[in-house]
Amino acid sequence: MKSGNCEIGMIGLGVMGRNLALNIADKGFSVAGYDTDAKQVEALGREAEGRPAVGAVTIDEFVGLLRTPKAIIMLVPAGPPVDAVIDALLPHLLPGDLLIDGGNSYFRETDARIRRLDERRVLYMGVGISGGERGARFGPSIMPGGPEAGYARVRPIFEAAAAKVDGEPCVAYMGPGSAGDYVKMVHNGIEYAMMQLIAESYDLMKRGLGLPNGRLREVYDGWNSSLLPSFLIEITARIFAKKDEVGGRFLLDMIVDEAQQKGTGKWTVQDAMDLRVPVPTIGSAVHMRDLSDLREERQEADHALSGPDRRLSQDGARFVDSLARAMRASMIIVYSQGMAQLAGASRLYGYGLRLEEVAKIWRGGCIIRSALLEPIRRAFHNRPDLKSLLLDPALKEMVTGDQADLRTVVCSAAAAGLPTPGLAACLAYFDAYRSGWLPANLVQAQRDYFGAHRYRRFDREGLFHTEWE
Ligand code: 6PG
Repeated sequence: MKSGNCEIGMIGLGVMGRNLALNIADKGFSVAGYDTDAKQVEALGREAEGRPAVGAVTIDEFVGLLRTPKAIIMLVPAGPPVDAVIDALLPHLLPGDLLIDGGNSYFRETDARIRRLDERRVLYMGVGISGGERGARFGPSIMPGGPEAGYARVRPIFEAAAAKVDGEPCVAYMGPGSAGDYVKMVHNGIEYAMMQLIAESYDLMKRGLGLPNGRLREVYDGWNSSLLPSFLIEITARIFAKKDEVGGRFLLDMIVDEAQQKGTGKWTVQDAMDLRVPVPTIGSAVHMRDLSDLREERQEADHALSGPDRRLSQDGARFVDSLARAMRASMIIVYSQGMAQLAGASRLYGYGLRLEEVAKIWRGGCIIRSALLEPIRRAFHNRPDLKSLLLDPALKEMVTGDQADLRTVVCSAAAAGLPTPGLAACLAYFDAYRSGWLPANLVQAQRDYFGAHRYRRFDREGLFHTEWE
């Protein structure tokens, strides 16, 4: 390959970067890769096998391989590593060059970097990429944000590399500034909530009904081919089949019950609170990861605090059917919370998000892909300004049809002493949202009682304070 001719550069040749580079090269675009770890550069050279991908061991060599104006994707861990790469690259960048961050960066950091690079007239984009290792290699969902002129330059590459649904690529321009990172952040918030819901369903069937792993596999497989076709349910079924290489037991039973996190779920909830958009299921998913991390404390409390014996008294087969419906209603409620947050963020941050496009590109490649995203896409197609997915006729019918099962599941879990904060948060959100009156008048009265914070009245305009004593 001639030097100075590569169409795109990739910095960070770890699992994600290398696989995305190979995916792009598969589609016939020439890629130059660079990593500070020479072993990763070697791995790219080995795996490229005749594809138009070449590795560089110094940054000078790397930039020398690129066509001008340069287009470079960074796939490095979020936070300081991104700024370190920018610092190293800046002396080599010229006005008109394009720098793309493909990691899970915090959206406010992306906004700051766009401003910083703009001073050098370098285009900077924050692009959400979802789908893990396999997605990067064979087709991720791509959520590009930042200057539209930058997107126009890489669009053919992104469209070729992205997953396809009905022949359509799972990539679309999200909006200016940090729109791409924001959409990816909320994607991850939804991902956290769905994983929590699935974990709760596992607990209900494992401890509640005593189902063995083999049976659990069949249940999730069944859900995946009936009510809940989705990537997360599909991989969950596979997890129950996996045996440990040492000892031959189920691998899942050897894994410590402490869930870790890198921050995207927490950021989602933090910003939802700033926007004042309620996302209680995503919040409970983050809290449950934190609670799981208190493992020793939980084990002490297990001895100290008594409660019901965590066994469900229901007929197993009927309960599993109810659970499937409860899960479907909850998944719709979670998407609804996430989409409402995107609408709120779009208004405040000026992203101009088109939620139909978001749903469309989430239908394939990403971690939260599921059959529900097609009716969700249709809902926003029919009404781009739809306030809540729960008000869309088709989705409303599913949730209202499934609600009795969600109630049965949450009540049974509470009676048995099994924690289901995600399912319960979905049900409470649904009931609060459909409640034309809420007891918030009492909260207002209390605030006024102790703090003279004032309240509004139904019968008169203005703000009022009362001497309550
Ligand atoms: C994806 C994933 C990916 C990553 C998460 C994991 O869309 O491909 O969301 O981005 O696996 O960041 O996040 P936690 O480590 O916080 O669970």
